[in-house]
Amino acid sequence: MKNDLEAKKRIDELTDAVNYHNYRYYMLEDPVISDYEFDGLIKELAELEDEYPQYAREDSPSKRIGGAVSEKFSQVKHGTHMLSLSNTYSKDDVIDFDGRIKRFLGYDIDAEIEYECELKFDGLAVELVYENAVLVQGSTRGDGITGEDVTVNLRTIRTVPLRLYKDIGHLEVRGEVIMDKNGFKKLNKERIKNGLSPFANPRNAASGSIRQLDSKITSNRNLVMFGYGIGGCSKELTFKTQIELMDKLKSLGINIDKNIRVVMGIRGALDFFDDIAKIRDALPFEIDGIVIKVNDILLQKQLGEISKSPRWAAAYKFSAKQEISSIVDIEISVGRTGILTPVAILDPVNIGGVVVRRATLHNQDEINKKNIDIGDRVLVERSGDVIPEVIKVISKGERSGAFELPDKCPCCRADIIIDGAAYRCMNELSCPCQIKGIIVHFASKRAMDIEGLGEKAVDKLVDAGLIKNVLDIYYLKRGDIGSMDGFGKKSEENLLNAIEKSKNISYDRFIYALGIRHVGEHIAGLLVKYFGDVNAIKNATIEDLSSKFGIGEEIGKSIYSFFREESNVNIINGLFEVGVAPYIADVPKEKADGGGVFGKSFIFTGKFDDFTRDEAERLVKNMGGNVEKAVKKKLDYVVAGSNPGSKYDKALKLHLNIINENDFKELINK
Ligand code: IVH
Repeated sequence: MKNDLEAKKRIDELTDAVNYHNYRYYMLEDPVISDYEFDGLIKELAELEDEYPQYAREDSPSKRIGGAVSEKFSQVKHGTHMLSLSNTYSKDDVIDFDGRIKRFLGYDIDAEIEYECELKFDGLAVELVYENAVLVQGSTRGDGITGEDVTVNLRTIRTVPLRLYKDIGHLEVRGEVIMDKNGFKKLNKERIKNGLSPFANPRNAASGSIRQLDSKITSNRNLVMFGYGIGGCSKELTFKTQIELMDKLKSLGINIDKNIRVVMGIRGALDFFDDIAKIRDALPFEIDGIVIKVNDILLQKQLGEISKSPRWAAAYKFSAKQEISSIVDIEISVGRTGILTPVAILDPVNIGGVVVRRATLHNQDEINKKNIDIGDRVLVERSGDVIPEVIKVISKGERSGAFELPDKCPCCRADIIIDGAAYRCMNELSCPCQIKGIIVHFASKRAMDIEGLGEKAVDKLVDAGLIKNVLDIYYLKRGDIGSMDGFGKKSEENLLNAIEKSKNISYDRFIYALGIRHVGEHIAGLLVKYFGDVNAIKNATIEDLSSKFGIGEEIGKSIYSFFREESNVNIINGLFEVGVAPYIADVPKEKADGGGVFGKSFIFTGKFDDFTRDEAERLVKNMGGNVEKAVKKKLDYVVAGSNPGSKYDKALKLHLNIINENDFKELINK
């Protein structure tokens, strides 16, 4: 049991950690912790938020389905949300899942539910939209609400039918794109030969292949798609059970795995898991567990969903594989966001068929907790084929203590600050290890909008030594770029023009472009509104910053430390000297303050599709609105969902302004 303060602190830590790991996983495709550990963080956070809903943050991952939408592809809104599954790792968890279902349905605890069991494919979730049998759109899951339009790439996959066998009107097929084990080995061999870094696992390879800008590359990548469900569909498709749905999809031409089995009772699902574990290694593709789904569709509907996961389905994941090895050295890598990650260099050890040489130690807290140092014998785990990690010390070596991370950045020698569990290099604008990511962000569309300065161009310019920080961009000149591989005279001209154009930019974009930690577009807008220009922001104290509505202490501290690092200030001054001249765009007062919600009073009644009442109320409070407890004459808005209660009747009587869920969403977005 935690006290309030501890609970809030832990919720904050977990929210930051999960958001960070989500970003590494989905955006950088470079996870630094195992799936198992990640799920552990999610679980702990969900439990704490359940107990202390008042501390759940607006940016809590529990409000999203996971994932992120990249800017590379145009965006596609899914017809219905693409949900994710809750994960279980033990028989007991699975038995609990079955118990919860029976309790929810009011069944006897001895009753046996019919389950349909499937493999849990370890790839990338996609949606295929068919209109009158023709494939018209294919997208990634993204954040579950909006994904990326990758139609051209999905069309290259042979197991994705371009036309269904039968016209059943509108159909949204959902499934997983995976790369088989052979294709993965071949691809990595080729990448290593060409001097490229190999993909960490088939899942990353599949995801990288689908999110290629050149579909020719995708077509050479041995990808396979398996269907496992649907989103919306027209009335022509009728089915009473999950297995009937799968059979129908199969008869339409969708690739359905042949291991699917319908079982009676949760024991049957556990047997399925044991059987699949035995054939796992012999399968041509990677799986990371099984998925157990209630077979009866009516029951599925009754069970519904909770925090973006269906109550009627769960993943039962294989546990990780572990072996013992020794730590011969500890290397420090500096990530693109400046975080120092200690990595154990191991005596090579074979874990489940893969030779492991490196394992993450995560951070100083973990090292201290586990008391790890060079020379120790340790237990190493490789789960779901992500980066292996050191679990615990088996026996200490010569050094009795725990390894200590350096206080200077190993990449640029700048001071390190301790930021929660993270050790961070604050030399954000010129540390060579962070610089590529920083420059790409600086030049991105929503920041300085320098067209032509994307990841590839930045890679080349930094590797050629032409730019070492964002200021160097403005010193590029004719002849620097044109002769480089992949550039011509024309692209050089275009890039130089785009750079020139970027000098005239609105102040909020400029602040956002600086890549200050926690300062996204919204906070950048607030900073400009409250402080006006960079100098005022720079001179503000942590208290000044944190006391402003919508900013808060953590963000305040991050901004403050950014401006205490001299090299950051020098670069900003340099940008002004070369002619970058941000102007203050008109930020309408209400917008910066919280849209049409600021200062208004609300009451909620009924059920909403996209948020719970608690979520809506918290949102209103965070945006500067008031939530009232009782209906009274002076209310600005009564937001009514489905099946509204007595508040609705009272609001009608008082002739109050009653709005629906969509009206409310418009108000928030104003
Ligand atoms: S059903 C209604 N079935 O696991 C629930 N998902 O976290 C939607 N996955 O995003 C998922 N194999 O990418 C389902 N047989 C299977 C699956 C499967 C893999 C993935 C899917 C989803 C994730 C769940």
